[in-house]
Amino acid sequence: MLTGRRHFPHKHLLGIEQLTAEDIWIILGVAEAMREVSLRSIKKVPTLRGKTVVNMFLEPSTRTRTSFEIAGKRLSADTFNVGGSSSSVVKGESLIDTVRNIQAMRPDVVVIRHGQCGAPHMVAKHIEAAVVNAGDGTHEHPTQALLDALTIKHVKGRIEGLNVSICGDIAHSRVARSNALLLRKLGARVKVFGPRTMIPRDCAAALDVEVAPSLAAALEDADVIMVLRIQKERQVEQLFPSEREYAQRFGLNPRTLELAPPDAIVMHPGPVNRGVELSPEVADGDRQVILGQVENGVAVRMAVLYLLAGATGEA
Ligand code: CP
Repeated sequence: MLTGRRHFPHKHLLGIEQLTAEDIWIILGVAEAMREVSLRSIKKVPTLRGKTVVNMFLEPSTRTRTSFEIAGKRLSADTFNVGGSSSSVVKGESLIDTVRNIQAMRPDVVVIRHGQCGAPHMVAKHIEAAVVNAGDGTHEHPTQALLDALTIKHVKGRIEGLNVSICGDIAHSRVARSNALLLRKLGARVKVFGPRTMIPRDCAAALDVEVAPSLAAALEDADVIMVLRIQKERQVEQLFPSEREYAQRFGLNPRTLELAPPDAIVMHPGPVNRGVELSPEVADGDRQVILGQVENGVAVRMAVLYLLAGATGEA
C-alpha cells in the first residue's frame, strides 16, 4: 500500500532518456505497490478521483491502450479514448489543433501514441496537462521499458549485472531503444543482435551496447533474451529475404534456445509474429514471461499516472 505522495521530479514522461536511475526506481517502487491493487477482488482505489486522463492513440495498440485505460480506471480517474480513425484527425485536423482542443477540456494527463518520432515532445510544449509517451515512431516507448524492468526484477531478483540480449529488428524498434537506455542506466550489460540491415550503424556508441556477431554470441551468456517483432509497417524496403529464412537464421526456437543458459528467460513486447521471430513452442513455453510483462504493464501505467496526475489519496 502507498501512503503519501512520492516526489517525482518530472512533469511529463517523454522517454527513458530524460530519467535518472533514481527516477526509474521511484516509478518501479510505486508500480510494486500498484500490483497489489490488481490482485484485490475490488480492483479500484480512490487515488485519482476527479482527475481526467485522455488516451490519444493515433497508431494501433492493444496492450498499451488497454492497460492505460485499465490503469486510470483502477485509480478512479475519468478516462477517455481518442482513436485515429474515430477522431477528426481523419478530416485533416493537425495534431497541434487536436491537442489544443483536448486541452480546452482540461485533462490532467494526456497519453499519446503517434507514428512520428518526437510527437509527444511537441504536444508537451503546447498543453498544460502532463504528457505520457505511449510510443513515438521508432524513437521511444518508455512504459514498455519500465514494465520490462519490473518483470526482470521479479523473475531475476535484480537488474544490475545481468546480461540482456535484445534480438531482432533493432533499427525500427522504440522498445529496443528505451530498453537499452533503461537497462544501461540500471547497470545491466546489453547486447543487440539481428540482421545487419536491421542494426543502426551507430548503434553500439549511441546506445552504449555491444553488437553480437552471431545468434550464438548473443545468447551464450544471456540472463534475459528480449525478442523483437519485425516492424514491417516501418520498413521502406525489404530488409530480409523471407520470413522463413528470418525464422531459420534469427528466430528463437527450441533448437536455438539451447544456445542460451538454461535459466535465461524469454521476453517479447508483443504482438508476436508466431513462427517468425518466436516459434510457437518458445512463445508458449516455460521460459517465456510474456503475459507477466502484460500484467506488469498495468502496474507500471498506474504508477506513471499516479506520479504525474498529482495523486491526493492512498492506493
Ligand atoms: N507492446 C506494445 O506496445 O503493444 P501494443 O502495440 O499492442 O500496445
